Amino acid sequence: MVTGGASGIGEGFVRHLAAIGMNVVIADLDADGARRLAGELGSGPARTIAAQVDVTDPEAVSMLAEQTFARFGSVELLVGNAGLETAGPLWEVPVARWRQVMAVNVDGIFHTVQAFLPRMIEAGRPAVIANMSSVGGVSSAPLQAPYIVSKHAVLALTECLHQEVALTGAPIQISAILPYSVKSRIFTSAQASAPTSDPVAARLFDAMQAANVAAGLDPVEAAAHMTDALAAGAFWVFSDDDAGIASMRARADQLAHRSPPRSPHALLAEIEASAVPGAERWH
Ligand SMILES: NC(=O)c1ccc[n+]([C@@H]2O[C@H](COP(=O)([O-])OP(=O)(O)OC[C@H]3O[C@@H](n4cnc5c(N)ncnc54)[C@H](O)[C@@H]3O)[C@@H](O)[C@H]2O)c1
Repeated sequence: MVTGGASGIGEGFVRHLAAIGMNVVIADLDADGARRLAGELGSGPARTIAAQVDVTDPEAVSMLAEQTFARFGSVELLVGNAGLETAGPLWEVPVARWRQVMAVNVDGIFHTVQAFLPRMIEAGRPAVIANMSSVGGVSSAPLQAPYIVSKHAVLALTECLHQEVALTGAPIQISAILPYSVKSRIFTSAQASAPTSDPVAARLFDAMQAANVAAGLDPVEAAAHMTDALAAGAFWVFSDDDAGIASMRARADQLAHRSPPRSPHALLAEIEASAVPGAERWH
């Protein structure tokens, strides 16, 4: 089961899991995208099913779980991946957009856990729930606060859940995924659905999009790497081990030394430089 499976990292997981012979449910708000992908993979060895779902709707997610268990009898891997970015200074983010980012990125994970975990425990088979945080879940960044807040929340939720499931003794592995840059539509979708009027935020998102195109990992290769880490039992799973571990180390150092958040100017300059080598620096 891959939520947000019609694009980007989720699509990478769908393609990789189908290629290694797993039956996959592509659960996405984008019904056409999910159907197209299922159709394309339909001739392979695995069954690939498209399901339209809005992860912000607990009843829809519950129905998805019911139908999936009715069809397959068990779910061995749930990737809680659907997510949204948003640009702009926090004081200018529309209330509705703040709520939407929290509803998809955080409530969506909560709803999938509530719908799938009890059924996974009841099925009694070893299984994995992997929730999509980000390296942004262990760091801070300006002009995308709702997203960063949501990814810290997903990480905290996942750590608590890991402990709670361990108390039950059920053979369910709970893992957190912290991707770095993987090619996807996340920045262009954010700017299309909730464009910011702040010029620095707009420039930041353009630079992040350009960096994503220039240096983001291939989603299928990233998914293969992350699937191997999940299969090896890791709690912390990265798309890029070096970048993920560097982010965690920087956070640990910051907390240990009680340092204030990193200079936003240095961070913005770094992002822009990674997008267009030699480009004019941020001021
Ligand atoms: N791409 C990266 O570099 C990166 C880095 C760190 C974390 N992430 C995380 O990876 C996840 C996937 O992002 P992506 O980069 O592949 O983005 P993407 O925009 O390419 O894909 C997101 C998918 O989620 C779906 N979706 C959005 N709202 C939904 C809803 N309410 N219900 C069901 N599906 C919904 C979209 O239709 C889309 O198919 C997100 O949680 C994101 O925060 C991505």
